[in-house]
Amino acid sequence: MKGKKVLVGVTGGIAAYKAPELVRLLVKADFQVEVAMTESATWFVTPLTLETLSGNKVIARMFGGDETPMDHIRCGQDADLIIIAPATANIIGKMAHGIGDDFLSTCMLAATATTLICPAMNDRMFLNPAVQDNLNLLQERGFHVMAPGSGELACGTEGPGRLPDPADIFEQAQILLSERDLADLKILVTAGPTTEHIDPVRFISNRSSGKMGYALARAALRRGAEVVLVSGPTNMKPPPGIHFCPVQTAEEMKRKVFEHRSGCHVIIKAAAVSDYRPKEMARQKVKKGADSVSLHMVKNPDILALLGQTKKDHPCILVGFAAETENLLNNAQKKITAKNLDMIVANDVSRKDAGFQTDTNAVKIIYADGRVEDSPLMGKIDVAHLILDRARALKDKSF
Ligand code: CTP
Repeated sequence: MKGKKVLVGVTGGIAAYKAPELVRLLVKADFQVEVAMTESATWFVTPLTLETLSGNKVIARMFGGDETPMDHIRCGQDADLIIIAPATANIIGKMAHGIGDDFLSTCMLAATATTLICPAMNDRMFLNPAVQDNLNLLQERGFHVMAPGSGELACGTEGPGRLPDPADIFEQAQILLSERDLADLKILVTAGPTTEHIDPVRFISNRSSGKMGYALARAALRRGAEVVLVSGPTNMKPPPGIHFCPVQTAEEMKRKVFEHRSGCHVIIKAAAVSDYRPKEMARQKVKKGADSVSLHMVKNPDILALLGQTKKDHPCILVGFAAETENLLNNAQKKITAKNLDMIVANDVSRKDAGFQTDTNAVKIIYADGRVEDSPLMGKIDVAHLILDRARALKDKSF
């Protein structure tokens, strides 16, 4: 996505306060961002804020500002994507009926880029038949409309009309800009740790943050795949559009994985599954007593090994992860054979910049035929794309 151009159009509603966060996310992901505001929008958020975050001059007026004479033609044609967020009933009406009476609406008349409209307004306004008809008309003409969230609105009422979270708009932008080369695939990803309960308030778990698994799910979704994400407890929000299955224990994870494995072309097990669980969970909180206690643990099912054992009946590309602190290559190679995998992504989790809880990762990808590929230190989303590229290639070769 590096260098792709996004024009963010900000119009005058209270949700304009979320526009700076959207611009920040886009800039952080290396998009070139230009911002056009309506005059009303400048009452809610200053051009200076958006100028500082985007690194570019903000255009808020048709005449008399810093704009050059052809900006209203150039902006919407230069961009790879236009996002109108928030989109008021006013801009929606103008776009539907070909009115250009300020910079942004005039720019939209000449625009050729893919456009994402994110309506945000009072619920009655949003449900007004005129607004609904205008949105339908725009969708028929190929504009993308992101449904507003429902809930408490700034005007005190409840209903549909909330601007989606900037992170969700950002995700939708990524989907619209990505090549959909995985559109024919169903991909199941597991992520995060599992928690194994000792009593109602205590559990055993591990340091997995789930970031790698969520990056894989997000990257696959952006590239058009149907994605099932089976996740242990994490602090992350699943991206909209994913079939999300939250679980806690290894047993629950196994059940969900087997429930959804049918029809999967690729299964990626990025979760850090607890190998053991307490033999029994106490019904009440265990009270302090003796100076030392021991916990009787029993083995959890090895979900990946079970998938590998039954791969003949459910052909798919099986990708494991190997979290190691020593003998990385050797240990990972053993797992590939023992679990009947097509490839394994090996992580040295003792490194500070890779593995658990980091935003970056450097991995070794080991294939069933013995090939080994080293990745440089990259952001987890880039590692995710690399793994998906390799899974796609294996799938195309095998069946
Ligand atoms: N895995 C699994 N079920 C388990 C344990 C692991 O599905 N009960 C999967 C993980 O999701 C990962 C792979 O197996 O894709 C390897 O996990 P890892 O923890 O590295 O290895 P283990 O097989 O558990 O072996 P060890 O802990 O001894 O290294």
